[in-house]
Amino acid sequence: MKKTARAHTNIALVKYWGKADEELIIPMNGSVSLTLDHFYTDTTVEFDPALTEDIFCLDGKQKHDPKVAKFMNLVRNLAKKETFARIDSINHVPTAAGLASSASAYAALALSATSAAGLNLTRKDLSRLARRGSGSATRSIFGGFVEWHKGTDDLTSFAEPIEEETDWEICMIAIVINGHEKKISSRHGMQQVVKTSPYYHEWVKTAEEDLKLVKQAIKNRDFSLLGEVSEASAMKMHALNMSAKPHFSYFMPESILAMQKIEELRSQNIPCYYTMDAGPNVKVICEKQNVAFIIDELSKLFAKENLLVANPGPGARLI
Ligand code: DP6
Repeated sequence: MKKTARAHTNIALVKYWGKADEELIIPMNGSVSLTLDHFYTDTTVEFDPALTEDIFCLDGKQKHDPKVAKFMNLVRNLAKKETFARIDSINHVPTAAGLASSASAYAALALSATSAAGLNLTRKDLSRLARRGSGSATRSIFGGFVEWHKGTDDLTSFAEPIEEETDWEICMIAIVINGHEKKISSRHGMQQVVKTSPYYHEWVKTAEEDLKLVKQAIKNRDFSLLGEVSEASAMKMHALNMSAKPHFSYFMPESILAMQKIEELRSQNIPCYYTMDAGPNVKVICEKQNVAFIIDELSKLFAKENLLVANPGPGARLI
């Protein structure tokens, strides 16, 4: 009745940004990501008949999170069970990095909670369940390069590995930039964009083409195509934010500085590209052989402890 699962975060190369169904978390477009090794969440779930509600602790501190309780109700429904559980989550992400993600959180919770409830779901069904907690968690069930098929309903919206154990030495360097601005959650940001951006239709249309190109790049080990499409997908997503009403942005001055530095390195024939999610951190996509040089260059502008390197990582598993 007590199980622990580990799931890793992922970085989207083709971004998910907008829901067709808010309740079921069905996305407007498919997405592709890379699961990362260094950033992960360990979650232990134990059902206990003595409890009168779920108890959730994150990094040792008890939290009131209605989203977690709602997710646990889905697990109870699946297991035909009424017992509440104790949920203990530890985020293994360098402190204050702002990289903690709902992707690793809900992927780890989906696996630990269903296992503790005595269920043995297929990875496809785990991915469908993780999706109900947070869209990006759909992809963190699998390792390596992963595609989330948008689907049209609960049964057809799930992720699948493209290359689970990739031998392509792709790396991600996270440049940690601390934002002091008021945070707009991805959930809220994407909702505002779907409702109000005059460009949203084009986003959905071009995302289909981006998916094709990024999969082709993975298959052919075409790093510049992978980088170009990933960078463009991220910038289109941020352009949507700036075109929403009211408009908003996750960019901080240091984010722009980091992006300009990457563009400068690229003009010197160093293959590297950037991406950004719903926060000010910039993530550099590069190949392993160039990591040391890029870190040296970035450390002229950013403190070394704010440059974190990750490699492709594994899917969710029980530990
Ligand atoms: C920018 O998965 O956090 O990271 O489904 O509302 O929980 P919810 O959103 P979330 O959004 C992730 C957005 C993104 C892009 C991506 O991971 O594809």
